[in-house]
Amino acid sequence: MNKTVLPSLLSSDFSQFKCEMARLREAGVTHVHWDIMDGHFVPNLTFGPGVIAAVRPHTDFFFDTHLMVKEPSFLIPAFQNAGVDLLTIHWEAVTHVDRVIAEIHECGMQAGIALNPATPACVLEDILPLVDLVLVMTVNPGFGGQQFLPYTLDKMARLRRMIDASGRDIVLEVDGGINEKTMPRVVEAGVDWVVAGSAVFNADDLKTSFSKLNGCFAS
Ligand code: DX5
Ligand code: ZN
Repeated sequence: MNKTVLPSLLSSDFSQFKCEMARLREAGVTHVHWDIMDGHFVPNLTFGPGVIAAVRPHTDFFFDTHLMVKEPSFLIPAFQNAGVDLLTIHWEAVTHVDRVIAEIHECGMQAGIALNPATPACVLEDILPLVDLVLVMTVNPGFGGQQFLPYTLDKMARLRRMIDASGRDIVLEVDGGINEKTMPRVVEAGVDWVVAGSAVFNADDLKTSFSKLNGCFAS
């Protein structure tokens, strides 16, 4: 399992996606995180598959895509056509979770399941073997730049144990409020992928901020 920090493009310059890809490549990034918000599941609206499709020809980054969308089933083929590698749905936003995970796999993408901070790890007990990734939200989804919720650390550690016990190669990812202070705490809890938006893009130097965060995996 390659452990890495994934810059969230929610904090990037939306008018310059092509340039942002080059800047991230220069900084050593390999995976990026797209936050898709529908204005219903979360009180914010971002971009859809059309924007991702426009950026895809300009990079070979792994596209990790976080759908904060109610009942997103109808959008799945469009994300596949846009060149998404992994599509994560929210457990709270989907009635037939098993069916939608199967639809993502049928479209040839990896499938992730995200949990809001208040949703307990135990809801994944039975469906864990079906997914490629579990995303623990460490803020309430909808906006960048929020404060990390420390009570989610226990849930991360619990999910780490559940994944290890399953014997499967399932990625444990966290998202929200990651900075130099919170990064060591989530690394200690055993996460594989860490999403960081404002801490990467709002820093004076993107390469330095990314390297500092990513370096926490090694220490
Ligand atoms: C929040 C998004 C996050 C967000 C993280 O709903 O899912 O990916 O961009 O931003 P920071 O790192 O600024 O908390
Ligand atoms: Zn996200």
